[in-house]
Amino acid sequence: MSLVIGSDHAGFEAKQDLIAFLTKHGYKVIDKGCDSPESVDYPDFALAVSKTVQSGEAGLGILICGTGIGMSITANKVPGIRAALCTSVAHAELSRQHNDANVLCLGARLQSRGEREEITRAFLDAEFEGQRHARRVRKIHDITGC
Ligand code: RB5
Repeated sequence: MSLVIGSDHAGFEAKQDLIAFLTKHGYKVIDKGCDSPESVDYPDFALAVSKTVQSGEAGLGILICGTGIGMSITANKVPGIRAALCTSVAHAELSRQHNDANVLCLGARLQSRGEREEITRAFLDAEFEGQRHARRVRKIHDITGC
């Protein structure tokens, strides 16, 4: 499955580390920037990653900023995006199983590299359980009409 990833300056190094980790594990990763630790604005990268998931070019997205909060707030404004800020493996698994989250948000300043890798792996390995959860996800979509 193709993944798309993006970060702001605070998440730049963590993004580069995670791309290496994912590539090593066989994933094709589309990198939407940023391209250096120079200061940038997280909404620009949240939007680029979200649009790539929205269009179907990538199956899932990953966004990294200092806390993960700005990225999740922004990505959740894009129709069809269900972004989950995950601070534990359980959050990551449940966000896929129950919420069919399609964008994972991580915090470079609040999580270690190892934690980000574990959380990412859990997010990618988990699957949406459907059934009653599908009804609830449909109700989320009904709010924006798509
Ligand atoms: C950048 O300093 C920081 O505000 C940003 O990375 C993020 O944490 C915002 O939510």
